[in-house]
Amino acid sequence: MEKPEMRLIAVSNRLPIVLTREDEKLTVRPGTGGLVTALAPVLKNRGGTWIGWPGAAEVSGIDETLKSASKNVGYDLRPVTLTEEEVKGYYLGFSNEIIWPLFHGFETRCNFDPEYWRCYRDVNRKFAKAVAENSRESDYIWVHDYHLMNIAHELKSMKVARHTGFFLHIPFPPADMFMKLPWRAEILHGLLQFDLVGFQTLRDRRNFIQCLRNLKYPELKISGRGTVLKAILPNREVRIGSFPISIDFNGFSRRAESRDVSERGWYFHEAIPDQQIILGIDRLDYTKGILERLEAIRITLRKNREMHGNVTFVQVIVPSREELPEYQNLKARIEQAVTEINGEFTYPGWVPIHHFYRQLEHDELIAYYRAAEIALVMPLRDGMNLVAKEYCACSLEGKGVLILSEFAGAAAELQKGALLVNPYDVKSVVDTICMALDMPPEERRSRMKRLRSIIRKRDIFWWVDSILQTAFAKRLEDFPQAEEYVPEISLKEEC
Ligand code: G6P
Repeated sequence: MEKPEMRLIAVSNRLPIVLTREDEKLTVRPGTGGLVTALAPVLKNRGGTWIGWPGAAEVSGIDETLKSASKNVGYDLRPVTLTEEEVKGYYLGFSNEIIWPLFHGFETRCNFDPEYWRCYRDVNRKFAKAVAENSRESDYIWVHDYHLMNIAHELKSMKVARHTGFFLHIPFPPADMFMKLPWRAEILHGLLQFDLVGFQTLRDRRNFIQCLRNLKYPELKISGRGTVLKAILPNREVRIGSFPISIDFNGFSRRAESRDVSERGWYFHEAIPDQQIILGIDRLDYTKGILERLEAIRITLRKNREMHGNVTFVQVIVPSREELPEYQNLKARIEQAVTEINGEFTYPGWVPIHHFYRQLEHDELIAYYRAAEIALVMPLRDGMNLVAKEYCACSLEGKGVLILSEFAGAAAELQKGALLVNPYDVKSVVDTICMALDMPPEERRSRMKRLRSIIRKRDIFWWVDSILQTAFAKRLEDFPQAEEYVPEISLKEEC
């Protein structure tokens, strides 16, 4: 970042806040996710603004509340308020019933309602207007995720010149999947209006480039090598990179060492003594493979009676998108499966699955990460999966084993230390759970050491720096691609 007057304008569907109304009084707490941890220092130091939806349809008094919240966090929070109809069409509809399932490879779950597209475009225009009003030409506009792929296009249509970047937090699908989208050409065109487009993995970037070639630019010239490429278009260039998002490794690790967390961990072990804990933590979502995991647990327990009374599965589900019938249905199916499994195996003094359906407090979460011998992270498809990285950061003694789906973006970086599984292959998941439980301590330690060193080196601050450096490098050739950018390890199928 060279120009001193440059400010960062972060734009995402949701503002990084938690909004609650108690006794008619609106309160705002700052969000705690990885993205806000990483961007907050840049926003505070360089001056900046975060633009997003406060998370509820038309909240009265929001402007005043956010003004005082902005003072507390040290940068401006600017709300884009949405009507109920906009929430329905743009967020629940286009974002969550079309892009989310399609980009994760679940095309049969898509509801390609043309009304959703109209609403998506309108709301992207609304966000673009908020960007135009709250920024100047020297600022850098960094847009996050699939809800807002059309902002750069809208800015250009309004003749608002801005330096823009986009990062897709979810996977970008292969061309034969993407081609099913009725608005495929518009979405590709929209993405190409950004100056930089970032993906989680090389695979996502390759899929995107393939779609460009198939649909819009058969002659597209791509130059460069390494993590960032240049797409040379008739009148401009777009940088296209792969930047695996990460976590605040030292923050998690330090917190895991704290007294509070150690004490909580001790209480867990007191409450369920002499158990190996296998942990699963997910947002409620059909992409996370929760039902597949429960099936693997059922079969593991049927086949391995010696585990009864010695192994406890802790399954934490964080509530999400409960307005959508699909998510309500999934919740009911998960609860049914847990009840069935516990009904089949429980005996006095031992319950095989401890099921939580709530947001855990930060320290409680870290205490579970520390206490668990195994983390079972098996999404059917995931942009990255930060639970896998958080678990490793908290595994201080190196006794933890990470079982990770091949289809999580994180598998590309972590495959050498984790045990990779195909979540659709129940038998191999069951075998892998047994292998993890039997793994000798030295092997656990050496695998975990490797995992921790990868995540420590490429943490969330590395991620922000690499994207901003890519955006501002005068020539791509000047950009440090060599040492810091360890080439991603390919999965076997990609060779
Ligand atoms: C994914 C998306 C985020 C999104 C989050 C929670 O991680 O990449 O953009 O915010 O899910 O989903 P929600 O629909 O509640 O915002």
